[in-house]
Amino acid sequence: MAREKTRYVCRECGYEAPRWLGKCPSCGEWSSLVEEVVSSGPVGRGRGGHALGGVAPRPITELESQGAMRLTSGIAELDRVLGGGIVPGSVVLIGGDPGIGKSTLLLQVSGAVSSRIQVLYVSGEESLNQVKLRGDRLGINSDNLLVLPEVDMERIEHWMENISPGLVVVDSIQTVFTQDLNSAPGSVSQVSQCAGRLMRKAKELEIPVCIVGHVTKQGAIAGPKVLEHIVDTVLYFEGERHHSFRILRCVKNRFGSTNEIGVFQMGDAGLSEISNPSEVFLSGRLHMVSGSCVTASVEGTRPILVEVEALVTRTPFGVPRRTTTGVDSNRVAIILAVLEKRAGLGLSSCDVYVSVAGGARLNEPATDLAVACAMASSFRNALCHPDTVIIGEVGLSGEVRAVNRMESRVAEAAKLGFKQCIIPAANRAVLADHDNLRVVQVRTISEALDHAMRR
Ligand code: TYD
Ligand code: MG
Repeated sequence: MAREKTRYVCRECGYEAPRWLGKCPSCGEWSSLVEEVVSSGPVGRGRGGHALGGVAPRPITELESQGAMRLTSGIAELDRVLGGGIVPGSVVLIGGDPGIGKSTLLLQVSGAVSSRIQVLYVSGEESLNQVKLRGDRLGINSDNLLVLPEVDMERIEHWMENISPGLVVVDSIQTVFTQDLNSAPGSVSQVSQCAGRLMRKAKELEIPVCIVGHVTKQGAIAGPKVLEHIVDTVLYFEGERHHSFRILRCVKNRFGSTNEIGVFQMGDAGLSEISNPSEVFLSGRLHMVSGSCVTASVEGTRPILVEVEALVTRTPFGVPRRTTTGVDSNRVAIILAVLEKRAGLGLSSCDVYVSVAGGARLNEPATDLAVACAMASSFRNALCHPDTVIIGEVGLSGEVRAVNRMESRVAEAAKLGFKQCIIPAANRAVLADHDNLRVVQVRTISEALDHAMRR
């Protein structure tokens, strides 16, 4: 196949050069030139008769909606994250750290979908034997699941056209390459070019495509940011390596909300769905230890109860250590300062360690008050009531601020048998009555500490 003509374009200023250059002569940026294919077809839609053909504008009321045609993946947690299933012709990018379970998830999806329609699983990273071994482990056994060990974009397109499967999986985009470009697979230009071609093929053949993308050390999907702009949906598969829980988080979705998460557990037979994460995150909790309390964090539209643990000890060094897992350390620093200044706790000479059990991550301000109570409880060596859920945002003046979705948080606490909820007084909205659950409304952080801890 004849190689397409390429040029090198500066990512910063758009300068074009026929050869690769280390430094852009125009803007002076280093390593900013990337290879691009020069389109050989007719350029400029305005010229010739091209613009006249096209599609005429139509009123939105006359357009047909095709929302109902989603392909269910057979994995309810994934379908929820996608907004009800995979849309035909859409491209879904799944990113995540190595070994987190991206290939496992997609092979399980392929297995489930292949009971209904044909699936093409393109594996650029693993040999047929490796895929087979994993498939055996996951109990996948279907004639409809076709495995293709291929990295050449042209050949992948060829098979997509020939087989016309109901779902295509490409593991991973970094291994795929097109012969049109000189650069190595995984390079910026290869990745964006191949993703663009997969996108066009998906739309043309109306086949949904799932792509695996590696992430960089900084946690972003490797390759150009444009990759995330090209595709329709971007999901991140996250979790602590040493925990078996995995969270599938949506960061971009053209066909649904980005608020949903899916929770999975990695076991001997692959990933299993967890439909009630609160129970799992609270299992293994010790009730009679100071420095631990429970909060309700809303992930997507689901409230999840998690345990916050803190350990506060006198520091042997001049500069105290503050280490956090699952909570933002800057947030913890602010809460520490508020506790010191507004509640009078002498924390500045203490080492503080905060962690969230089970590998969950809290990124909502609504969990501030629980972090504060856990730290105060450890500092005072006083137990927090084990059957209390603490919810609220902490302000710099020590005030406890209202948070959203309070009703669903309280309902989740009631469902799991908690007896008391400490919530902001500002959340005055009428809360539905729950048997056996007392709701305490607090104004300040000191008030919250009084209610949370045993005297
Ligand atoms: P994998 O899907 O290969 O990760 P990725 O594609 O994101 O790099 O996941 C591999 C990890 O999952 C590996 O550490 C082993 C573990 N695993 C299980 O624990 N149980 C299983 O049934 C499978 C298939 C994998
Ligand atoms: Mg993999």
